Amino acid sequence: MPAPSLRFQPIITGASAGLGVEFARQLAPRSTRMLLVARRAEFLTVVAADLQAQWPDLDVVICPADVATEAGRVAISSSLERHQFAPNLLINNAGLGDYGSFETASAERIQQQIDVNITGLVMLTHRLLPQLKAQRPSGILNVSSLAGTIPLPEMAIYAATKAFVTSFTEALRIELLDQGVTVSAVCPGPTPTTFSAVAQRTGGQDTNRSGQTFLRMPNDAVVAQGLAALEHQQATIYPGWGPTIASQFFRLIPRWLMRRLLTRRLHKDRAAHPSPPKSP
Ligand SMILES: NC(=O)c1ccc[n+]([C@@H]2O[C@H](COP(=O)([O-])OP(=O)(O)OC[C@H]3O[C@@H](n4cnc5c(N)ncnc54)[C@H](OP(=O)(O)O)[C@@H]3O)[C@@H](O)[C@H]2O)c1
Repeated sequence: MPAPSLRFQPIITGASAGLGVEFARQLAPRSTRMLLVARRAEFLTVVAADLQAQWPDLDVVICPADVATEAGRVAISSSLERHQFAPNLLINNAGLGDYGSFETASAERIQQQIDVNITGLVMLTHRLLPQLKAQRPSGILNVSSLAGTIPLPEMAIYAATKAFVTSFTEALRIELLDQGVTVSAVCPGPTPTTFSAVAQRTGGQDTNRSGQTFLRMPNDAVVAQGLAALEHQQATIYPGWGPTIASQFFRLIPRWLMRRLLTRRLHKDRAAHPSPPKSP
């Protein structure tokens, strides 16, 4: 991981909204160049213009691309080559969820979560690892979730993809320990971004429990703690005392007890919202 005195050259996926924009903002004063990736070019253009207005010496390159597709990931590599961009930090942040039962989910939304949250993250990391190693000390920060610590009904696919991200992060971290590439995961609880609007089905309830204020953290704190964890060579970070305690609790309680608590939670939710809507 580059020492604080060194300048970053980060690639940030999902940089058109939410935590991705905040990663770009916090890294801007410590970076010479950055590559911002997301599908919506018009949003990336606005983010880049704002950053450059505030940091005139910063070179911001935008790359409109879908990380879920091989074509999108090839476009990212081509953009790096075209701009002679040598990244020393990869922030795998792009991701999405879906609130509601597995049975009523659309096949497309199920596939999309797996393609973005798992395939996109893994295959982009695989593609860029040689370049990150060439710039060592370098780093990879994967944005996982507190949801990855539990088998979460009505967010079953999302929680499973994030369990994958956390597990993958820890294994890759061990593989790369003596190779100058630090790998960490930041695992936030509910955070006020556009995540809920994307995950919520038309006419559906927000089952993200965003009302559980003890788990909530503002975007800037999540990102600051994620970056600090990477710089301090920490494997995982659950930003905030609520997510920290919750993650420890979930790890320590027996699985049967966890399933019983989650069953009770689901029954309560279903009593409150009897007919879950279908995915868009
Ligand atoms: N907010 C929370 O409560 C929360 C909690 C824990 C973890 N997280 C994780 O935090 C990360 C960031 O989410 P957020 O909360 O900032 O949500 P957000 O505001 O909805 O932002 C998601 C970002 O991902 C990008 N994205 C989605 N699909 C993409 C694709 N196929 N290719 C490229 N970019 C794609 C979106 O850009 P485009 O639509 O322009 O492509 C957007 O920039 C995700 O991994 C999420 O799972 C969020």
